[in-house]
Amino acid sequence: MSALPSLSVPYLSADAVAHLIAARGPATCMAEIAERIEADFRRWGEFDKTPRVASHSPEGVIELMPVSDGRHYSFKYVNGHPKNQRVGLPTVLAFGVLADVATGLPALLCDLTLTTALRTAAMSALAARVLARPDCRRMAVIGNGAQSEFQVLAFHRLLGIRECHLYDIDPAATTKLMSNLARLGIVAKPFESTAAAVKGCDIVTTITADKTNATILTPEMIEPGMHLNAVGGDCPGKTELHRDILLRAGQVFVEYAPQTRIEGELQQMPDDFPAIEFWSVLDGSAAGRPTVDALTIFDSVGFALEDFSALRWLQSVATQPAALGLLPQLDEPRNLFGYLPLADCLPKAA
Ligand SMILES: NC(=O)c1ccc[n+]([C@@H]2O[C@H](COP(=O)([O-])OP(=O)(O)OC[C@H]3O[C@@H](n4cnc5c(N)ncnc54)[C@H](O)[C@@H]3O)[C@@H](O)[C@H]2O)c1
Repeated sequence: MSALPSLSVPYLSADAVAHLIAARGPATCMAEIAERIEADFRRWGEFDKTPRVASHSPEGVIELMPVSDGRHYSFKYVNGHPKNQRVGLPTVLAFGVLADVATGLPALLCDLTLTTALRTAAMSALAARVLARPDCRRMAVIGNGAQSEFQVLAFHRLLGIRECHLYDIDPAATTKLMSNLARLGIVAKPFESTAAAVKGCDIVTTITADKTNATILTPEMIEPGMHLNAVGGDCPGKTELHRDILLRAGQVFVEYAPQTRIEGELQQMPDDFPAIEFWSVLDGSAAGRPTVDALTIFDSVGFALEDFSALRWLQSVATQPAALGLLPQLDEPRNLFGYLPLADCLPKAA
């Protein structure tokens, strides 16, 4: 079969993204992505936003996450399948596209699995830097799976977290996290229960995966001045906090309220429960932490704008993306039919 001319799209495989992040250093990458996310949230009004389009099944969800600022357009394809681990597959896998709005041509196609972990942790740390007490040093991480190292590293780099308390229902996950953190020189201690792990912590990150309305944190575990970074409750029927914790806080901080009301901890609350969008705290139109002793909750679900920021970052740091012949290259743009290699297979005249 002869090769047809094709338009090349810059392409980064999972392997290429992994090498890029390793060479730059994951903590540096997250600091750079956090800067981009902050800059993009500060120009919130420029974006055409929509809650992600989710296709649910009993086992999980497949989501499409589009957003555009009128010059660039991006979307991410991402799944969330908590039981995948049992069949040897990750819970979360993702890829995405950045495109040029003027021509509609893709400007980058790439794996976003590692990048999702980076951008989620960067967003969590950025929110905590604005909302948590400035003197936070100790964080509990409940759920020690694929995302957890990135969360710890981002909080270590961006907030100065120095000590981590760990808990997972599966001790093997905690052992894996402990060993990866040891390689990074970060102090971490395993605990026998969530209650024991969160005791005395300034920040609690919940990042478990279970498609159920779980109560990973219950009201008696909450201490004055805590900041909760609730990441694992991110689709309908999948939450991590007891609703009385939200009632105690009286409000939650969110990325994009229309999406978080469907997917976040907020889904447990009435439609008028206060949800403060993070951009409004950044630009000063809404208040952040009310008092030193207040409980603050970042109800993270993951919003398309964070992937847009991460894709723009990847585009800027990827020096040699591969070229993927993804689209037909036509000499005469209106002759799409002529692109078909039909010459040899047309029926011969009798
Ligand atoms: N908000 C966001 O932007 C965002 C982004 C990425 C992932 N997520 C969510 O974060 C969660 C974690 O993702 P992951 O890739 O690390 O998943 P993972 O499957 O690799 O790890 C999840 C861990 O949670 C543990 N766990 C389950 N129930 C628990 C419980 N009751 N107490 C303590 N630990 C428990 C599991 O044993 C597992 O080790 C998922 O729910 C995922 O959907 C959210």
